[in-house]
Amino acid sequence: MLVIVKNNYDSLSLEAAKVVADRLKKKPNLVLGLATGSTPLGLYKELIRMHKYEGLDFSKVTTFNLDEYVSLPPSHDQSYHYFMQNNFFDNINVDPRYIHVPQGMAKDVTQFCDWYEERIKSFGGIDVQVLGIGANGHIAFNEPGSSLGSRTRIKTLTSTTREANRRFFKNDETVPKYAITMGVGTIMNAKELLLVASGNDKADAIKSAVEGPLTAMCPASIIQMHKEAFVIVDKEAGSKLEGTYVDTWETIIFD
Ligand code: F6R
Repeated sequence: MLVIVKNNYDSLSLEAAKVVADRLKKKPNLVLGLATGSTPLGLYKELIRMHKYEGLDFSKVTTFNLDEYVSLPPSHDQSYHYFMQNNFFDNINVDPRYIHVPQGMAKDVTQFCDWYEERIKSFGGIDVQVLGIGANGHIAFNEPGSSLGSRTRIKTLTSTTREANRRFFKNDETVPKYAITMGVGTIMNAKELLLVASGNDKADAIKSAVEGPLTAMCPASIIQMHKEAFVIVDKEAGSKLEGTYVDTWETIIFD
């Protein structure tokens, strides 16, 4: 695990974008795992800039998103499909046929989840998986207590998560109750992980994920077991770390 502490959100976004761009230049048909949420927005913005002004080419890339709400159609402005389309896909030259976001409207969710796992495998697995982290240590919709070996499946959202999401919906009833999410085991199968975190409210989660005991109560702590994981944080999110960490990946080469 390589922990990189940057001065601020912009420089952490730039650092993460450099890693993705480097992998993409080396492998034009990169299989990219993606996350929604506010943290990766700066990373996506920088990748869009690299595409527009530096010719970074996504035409052969395949993407797989981590999660989606059950029962929201892709056209719903709170769906993760909508988020990804607006904040990333519409602004790069990715082929729509190779974009994958879990289908919240799937008739048979279990069958869909099995298909998603197989589909990832059929592309040779995910090369780089972008991750955010919840203040409670969740990754994707794998909340504390999720099995560390879990695969793509339907999860009931915790009341805290539903309360946090309430502001985006008209009333309590319309806040989704379920989500489809890659499992912790699915995430761990990615060849590289790129976890980004920003702000003081992520400091405890980052401390537990990076330096705490490996536990299902902090699903992100599983990254300690990954051979090639990057954790890129700003000073605030890294403020509770006790170890000494680097400030760039560029001089570091994994064995
Ligand atoms: C979303 C996802 C979530 C977020 C996490 C952090 O696809 O996987 O686990 O990464 O909730 O969200 P932000 O970045 O908004 O703090």
